[in-house]
Amino acid sequence: MKSLLFSRFLLLLPWVLIVIIVLDIDSSRAPLPALSPRGGAEGGSGGARPPAPRRLPEAALPTIYAITPTYSRPVQKAELTRLANTFRQVSRLHWILVEDAAARSELVTRFVAGAGLPCTHLHVPTPRRYKRPGLPRATEQRNAGLAWLRQRHQHLPPPQPGVLFFADDDNTYSLELFQEMRTTRKVSVWPVGLVGGRRYERPVVENGKVVGWYTGWRADRPFAIDMAGFAVSLQVILSHPKAVFKRRGSQPGMQESDFLKQITTVEELEPKANNCTKVLVWHTRTEKVNLANEPKYHLDTVNIEV
Ligand code: UGA
Ligand code: MN
Repeated sequence: MKSLLFSRFLLLLPWVLIVIIVLDIDSSRAPLPALSPRGGAEGGSGGARPPAPRRLPEAALPTIYAITPTYSRPVQKAELTRLANTFRQVSRLHWILVEDAAARSELVTRFVAGAGLPCTHLHVPTPRRYKRPGLPRATEQRNAGLAWLRQRHQHLPPPQPGVLFFADDDNTYSLELFQEMRTTRKVSVWPVGLVGGRRYERPVVENGKVVGWYTGWRADRPFAIDMAGFAVSLQVILSHPKAVFKRRGSQPGMQESDFLKQITTVEELEPKANNCTKVLVWHTRTEKVNLANEPKYHLDTVNIEV
């Protein structure tokens, strides 16, 4: 009896082993949660990025649209590289890069092609008369980004879950910030570090509502918040088609208030980042580079893009 059992066991063993091996191979091949096609690559698209396991299927996430004005200067490629390295790690982020230039530059075009994330590359020059110290920057570029977004979505049927925010090319963004802004219903706000002459500025929150502003600079601003301190749902952008950044009558530091006034009220704001008690974005500014020893005429044997 015992030997009969043993021979049966020996007979079955190879089959059991084969089944185990096949199951093992199958599970190691199992597709990771499908990544959405890295679409919408007008003006140049990035390559594929390695899929990472995620909790939510990507298709269920609202797209985050980041509008970044940028202009040619020695540090531009370094800034864009830092930004792309951050954005590449964010699911469903569509980068709208708007050059302050009469035409798309070769540098940015090449950069976008290798950035590795969905990217739309636009350009619009700032009129010369507005290129003066003390005047607001990047007004035309942010408006070009808004126009593109509205145009892209006006013919698509709702719902179109999406969130827009303005990402200047020199700031520093934590990945947690994107998780926070992703759930924006209308307009959300959070603290910004290293701005307004203080370590941080923040919306003051009581019982879940914004009731004022902690700031060291022009506290009389209706929305005393930096461009990096808020996000707007795509629905709000589409339902306020005329909301844009204005040149006329716009004072320094008032661009944010002038824009937000058109689409929301202070009472309506949604505080993020633990009731606005966490700094997840920093208004860093890059030091001007010292090019004192740069030769007047090209001396090197090769031409290198920096
Ligand atoms: C502050 C705010 O954080 C900005 O959002 C605001 O646009 C700016 O003030 C202003 O004065 O209008 P700040 O660090 O002083 O920012 O400004 P920059 O970072 O020099 O410029 C803001 C964005 O506009 C950057 O993405 C930059 O690349 C772009 N920019 C700047 C241009 O596209 N063209 C320019 O001539 C200058
Ligand atoms: Mn800046």
